[in-house]
Amino acid sequence: MCGIIGLISEQEFTLKEAFMKLKKLEYRGYDSFGYYDTEILIKKTGHIDIPRKNKKSKIAILHTRWATHGGVTDYNAHPHQSCDKNITIVHNGIIENYQELKDDLIKRGHKFRSETDSEVVAHYFEEKLKTKSIKESCVDFINEIKGTFAVLLIKKDENRIYALKRDSPLVLGICNNKNILASDIYAFSDISDEAIFFENDEFAIVEKDNYMFFDQHGKKINKKIQKFLWEQEESEKKKFRHYMIKEIMEEPKVVKRLLFSFKTEQKSNFNKFIELIKKSKKILFIAAGTSYHASLLGVYYLHECGIEAQTLIASEFRHFATIDKETIVIAVTQSGETMDVIDGLKYAQKKRAKIISIVNVPYSTIQRMSEVSLNILAGQEVCVAATKSFVNQVTILLAIAKEFGFKINLDTLAPRIESMLKQENKIKKIAAEIYMKNDIYVLGRGLSYPVAREVALKIKEISYIHAEGMMGGELKHGTIALIEKGTPVIALISNKDYDMLSNAKEVEARGANVIKVANELNGDINVPTSNDGKFGVLAAIFGQLLTYHMALERNLPIDKPRNLAKSVTVK
Ligand code: F6R
Repeated sequence: MCGIIGLISEQEFTLKEAFMKLKKLEYRGYDSFGYYDTEILIKKTGHIDIPRKNKKSKIAILHTRWATHGGVTDYNAHPHQSCDKNITIVHNGIIENYQELKDDLIKRGHKFRSETDSEVVAHYFEEKLKTKSIKESCVDFINEIKGTFAVLLIKKDENRIYALKRDSPLVLGICNNKNILASDIYAFSDISDEAIFFENDEFAIVEKDNYMFFDQHGKKINKKIQKFLWEQEESEKKKFRHYMIKEIMEEPKVVKRLLFSFKTEQKSNFNKFIELIKKSKKILFIAAGTSYHASLLGVYYLHECGIEAQTLIASEFRHFATIDKETIVIAVTQSGETMDVIDGLKYAQKKRAKIISIVNVPYSTIQRMSEVSLNILAGQEVCVAATKSFVNQVTILLAIAKEFGFKINLDTLAPRIESMLKQENKIKKIAAEIYMKNDIYVLGRGLSYPVAREVALKIKEISYIHAEGMMGGELKHGTIALIEKGTPVIALISNKDYDMLSNAKEVEARGANVIKVANELNGDINVPTSNDGKFGVLAAIFGQLLTYHMALERNLPIDKPRNLAKSVTVK
């Protein structure tokens, strides 16, 4: 959450060029944005608005915010400055001891302009610089600050950017005649494939043609430049109205690319992955949100092959996981930066469990924490809601389950997805019938239960309609009291699952408007597969299209739903 960028260059760049880079990180938060280049400071609420000014610079720091401490106001937007305006910073993370530091700085005469935790960083350095060098101040910062941070700092009289990191992501992109610091590689992956990833408690001094890295004691360290491979998707929406629908339509293509990679560049990692699972005594997935739903499907598929596995929601992992060195923990994540997942993995590391992962963003923190990691290869997902990355996560889990005996022909998955996408108009009609409703229930059993939860999550986050994804069998234990005449209930029925059919009948008898998404029987939407594995993927795609069209009818900001961010880097 929050995206930060630092640019330092031999040649001048325009304000527009700098903001175009920030735009690439807007998915990390879009409450407010800001810019500083030693001459001008911009701080504004709302989505990034590229200034028309014809201004050029050789140094700048930028920020796009997802608010945590302090409301969405111009004052709370980053960058923040010290009292003397000599120090300007942008920050991603949470300074946990900010109140204590702030009280002390106020006593020393500092005046604060915002309600944020981040502003203390600027005043902290201003105070330190009264007695110490900037490098010594960086060392003190790393040792005295509690919490998480990726900080970029400009000292007005110097032509360099100071960068400090703990737990929040930070990477240095090595580009021709310029260096770019950023929360992730998207900021520069169009112009460079070389980067240096910061590890925790490191800081760097970055100049236009030079950089130096230091550890938490101020000792110089040598860092390796990593060459990264990134499937750069066409970043323009082109004929599509929204990224969401563009990304849904890319699903057949990314599935094919992923399956091909298992025979080619990912073959060896895939085999290692399977070997590690086979050797472990206990298999535990960890994930959040949509990725959790994918992992739940993974558990189902493995269970079908007689393999015991469990999944836990990342934010509760510590409280419910019993693990030891014979446990394998499999993280499933699009961004590879979700703080709840990182936190759970740290706990697993302490217990000496093995960590492997399924990740979309290469070189992300979670990938770097893993012994082996499989790339999801969905390409960049710009829309905040996960769609194609979910499909590829599930495809990986199906491929893994297949190694343990799950019956599926994955070669026909992409064509089946194409057939599902062709039903868009039918789904659009259903959306037009129900988009004004206040509540929608989605029911599933067995493999369709995780999908029911995923469909409901998509409906909530994109269409802003309250939705519940439930086990069909659990409904009668309470929630059925909420079913009234006309309440939409989506029933996901795979292979004439009679228990699920009965659950659909039970709500129908109480006047619900039941929408049957089924194979092997005449549903409102016919899922073109007889395979349970593929049913999961295709029914989820039905949900993606339904949500998209309901949100269109409601005229909502589909790609950037309120209050959300794509990379959730706070606990
Ligand atoms: C929903 C969505 C979120 C993410 C969740 C985990 O569409 O995108 O629920 O799935 O925040 O994120 P990752 O997969 O990046 O760990």
